[in-house]
Amino acid sequence: MCGIVGYVGPRGSQEVLLGGLGRLEYRGYDSAGVAIISDELETRKRAGKLQTLRDELVANPLDDGHTGIGHTRWATHGAPNDVNAHPHLGDNGKLALIHNGIIENFAEIKAELVADGVEFVSETDSEVAAHLVGREYRRTGNLTEAMKASVARFDGAFTLLIVHEESPGVVVGARRNSPLVIGLGKGENFLGSDVAAFVEYTSDALAIGQDQIVTITPDSVSVIDFDGNAVTPEPFTVTWDASAADKGGWSSFMAKEISEEPAAVADTLRGRVKDGVVEIPGFEPADFADVDRIIVVACGTAAYAGLVGKYAIEKWARIPVDVELSHEFRYREPVISDRTLIVSVSQSGETMDTLMAVKYAREIGARTLSICNTQGATIPRESDAVIYTHAGPEVAVASTKAFVAQITALYLLGIAIAQANGKGDARILSAAVHDLEAAPALLDTVLRHGEHIRTLAKWMADTQAVLILGRHVGFPIALEGALKLKELAYIHAEGFAAGELKHGPIALIEPGQVVFVIVPSPRDPNSLHSKVVNNIQEIRARGARVIAIAEQGDAAVLPYADEVIPIPLASSFIEPILAVVPLHMFAMELAAAKGLDVDQPRNLAKSVTVE
Ligand code: F6R
Repeated sequence: MCGIVGYVGPRGSQEVLLGGLGRLEYRGYDSAGVAIISDELETRKRAGKLQTLRDELVANPLDDGHTGIGHTRWATHGAPNDVNAHPHLGDNGKLALIHNGIIENFAEIKAELVADGVEFVSETDSEVAAHLVGREYRRTGNLTEAMKASVARFDGAFTLLIVHEESPGVVVGARRNSPLVIGLGKGENFLGSDVAAFVEYTSDALAIGQDQIVTITPDSVSVIDFDGNAVTPEPFTVTWDASAADKGGWSSFMAKEISEEPAAVADTLRGRVKDGVVEIPGFEPADFADVDRIIVVACGTAAYAGLVGKYAIEKWARIPVDVELSHEFRYREPVISDRTLIVSVSQSGETMDTLMAVKYAREIGARTLSICNTQGATIPRESDAVIYTHAGPEVAVASTKAFVAQITALYLLGIAIAQANGKGDARILSAAVHDLEAAPALLDTVLRHGEHIRTLAKWMADTQAVLILGRHVGFPIALEGALKLKELAYIHAEGFAAGELKHGPIALIEPGQVVFVIVPSPRDPNSLHSKVVNNIQEIRARGARVIAIAEQGDAAVLPYADEVIPIPLASSFIEPILAVVPLHMFAMELAAAKGLDVDQPRNLAKSVTVE
């Protein structure tokens, strides 16, 4: 939440900052602003999407300079208007500050500053930080010292960047529980909420740890902890280039990212299976062979990926798996032991609820493993081990390709642990590996139904409510499909376990109610197929309009479905990866048919870095 970029170097800051903000806009789009030092410090900021700031900079240009900071906001304290937009000013307008996070004790510091004669213009907690750092700068005469003295006062989560008119060529940043990474250039340096901020200019990056302060100039980078001790930051190389974060000719990032679902699975598998054995560089399954319980902690779509993973890991590795929403896990005193493995799943690696769950799990003695899509992110750094998903940058706010990559990584984890603990059936495991390797090509064929799904969505543009039924691994897919419809198309959508239908939800069925049904394969060993076909008959008898996502050639479904979206023949654990794609496409197309912004749905931000 909130995107942050900082720059010092020979280029004009404005272009660097606006380019970086464009790639960070998925983090929040309530307002945007920049502060640039030329002869003096100047700021421009506007409520609304980045384009409104761009327009403002055309209407009311500022003198470009070589030092600057930029911000795109997801509002927490104060309405999303021009005044509450960042940067905020301190030291009589000479210091500019941008902030991501929440300063929990802002009221107490504000009272102190007001008593000191400081006048506030905004309703934000961030302006408090600007005035406090400004006051500390006047006292110390040094930006890094001013930051150090100020962060010692703050409670909560924050990434802060500051520039001061009297210190051109210097940007100082600090972080606690919110993200910040350094981009290393030649004669120039960058700071960003994530590498997307500067990937156009450099792929050499440094990760900044918790409670650290960084000072960049064109030729130097120095990092200290909040006590002032020097720290050596950890280097990493960005593995994707700027073009990966462009739309590349697609109508939206979401359309592009759905088209990349096959590649997300293939790239997450790449180099990790050798002769039927899962070998993940940097991950040692033997370290987890004694694990007797797994708890997946995650939020939203990532939690639904965890739920799919539960079915597979329990079957393959014979270990009980629970899936918990991160924000529930840490407040209920969970029973864990040193043989419990907490697996966090997060695309961004920055979701505050999940980060806090991981920290809590470590405090109470569990082992932690992160499944994450973002290099240099906080959650993997706070975990004992990491398996990266390689879905590439996901820019659309609603997660799609990361979801199938997360399921793939969870499957790899399940197979790896089963191979290490000896509880898995070798024949089943080798079939699972083989099925996974075949999945990307099958996904390609599902993508061919785009036109059919677009037509369906146009036909249903006025639909107010959609129900989705699934069973076994189809159940989490029903939940995921419903979440996408809520967040993209703003309609009421519910996912149900099909077996639960008669226990209540069937009361919702009335003539014309649209129900998607994810139909298990007729070859399903548990005979779930016939049970779900029975469910279809039950809802059809009550007037539902049924759209079945069913295996190609499934003749049993045809007489009862109004529409069938066929998916290719696959094993039961590959079916969810295939079945979710039509639901992703449908939610996107329905939103598009309603004229909505599919990449930046209202009220949301991609990386939820506040609790
Ligand atoms: C839904 C969506 C969210 C995220 C959730 C977790 O489309 O994108 O539900 O899945 O906020 O985010 P990460 O995976 O970054 O922890």
